[in-house]
Amino acid sequence: MKKKTVLELGILTFACMQVLCGCEKQQDSPLMTVQVGVACYNQSDTFLSELLASFKEQLSGMETQELSATVMQKDAAGSQRTQDDQVRELLDAGCNVLCVNLADRTNPSEIIELAREREVPIIFFNREPVAEDLMQWSDLYYVGADAQQSGVMQGELAADAILANSQIDRNHDGKIQYVVLEGETGHQDAIIRTEKAVDTLKDKGIGLEKLSYAIANWNRAQAQNRMTQMIGQYRNDIELVLANNDDMALGAVDAYEKLNYTESTLPVFFGIDGTREGLRAVADGRLAGTVYNDKEGQAGAMARLAVALVCGEGMQELSFEKERCIYLPYAKVTADNIEEYQH
Ligand code: GAL
Ligand code: CA
Repeated sequence: MKKKTVLELGILTFACMQVLCGCEKQQDSPLMTVQVGVACYNQSDTFLSELLASFKEQLSGMETQELSATVMQKDAAGSQRTQDDQVRELLDAGCNVLCVNLADRTNPSEIIELAREREVPIIFFNREPVAEDLMQWSDLYYVGADAQQSGVMQGELAADAILANSQIDRNHDGKIQYVVLEGETGHQDAIIRTEKAVDTLKDKGIGLEKLSYAIANWNRAQAQNRMTQMIGQYRNDIELVLANNDDMALGAVDAYEKLNYTESTLPVFFGIDGTREGLRAVADGRLAGTVYNDKEGQAGAMARLAVALVCGEGMQELSFEKERCIYLPYAKVTADNIEEYQH
């Protein structure tokens, strides 16, 4: 057989590569880059750090030969001013889609204006802007979950536990003495979760006596502090702790552990989120239950939406409510179904 010339070999190799890659069109389809700028209200927030880890994983799983994705992340450490500046930096760095977890959910105007000037769409997530703000421009979206549903589910979990176990009413007075650990004031998930959990317990016919509440800003150490104070005041009287999230429920458990309380004098604790630590505590019985805040679902929706907004394809596969919002459902988690959630 005649020896192939260098040129012929080159052509052959190129043809083989095209077949192998299945990318005959590659020449005329340029590489699309989704450059996501993520602005987070506070990176040390447990739920959000788990959500963002999942977001990065799912986004990079969407990369193909035609599509590359990068993520640049900023931490506002609770300040809206800082976050406004960070969004400007993300836009200057060339981000073509933004995922914004507002520091102050009532104050997105500056960010909206900056993004609008450069025509870069914004996906708000987890901290829901008020409806009028989302209407400021047509390229604004929201991905999150329905706060009301999580409150109702927490109330149902607590009601089921109380109805199934008469020992929870430790002083047998026919009422459950409870305290609430709340997230940040003004956060949709704090106000609504507390209200709905308590209403649901009442609807189920549970007699209640609210002893106290404390704001612990979603934070485990703050919750431990506030719980220690409440234990100092109410001693063995507290029968139920409703926490707006798992980290605060765990902080409450920490407070009792530190004071060496024994099991017979412990209240029952309920959280929301199903963080890694939260799920572990449900599995070992430290928490009686939690409500799963579907971080993988939310992160997946954010990733698909970000790609669709940049590439202009795939919007019809996403299901929107109120035109531009995506809400992922919550789910109840107890020792009975924990295996479905622990991976
Ligand atoms: C909630 C979540 C909290 C905290 C908060 C931050 O949805 O349950 O743990 O992450 O968002 O905005
Ligand atoms: Ca009681």
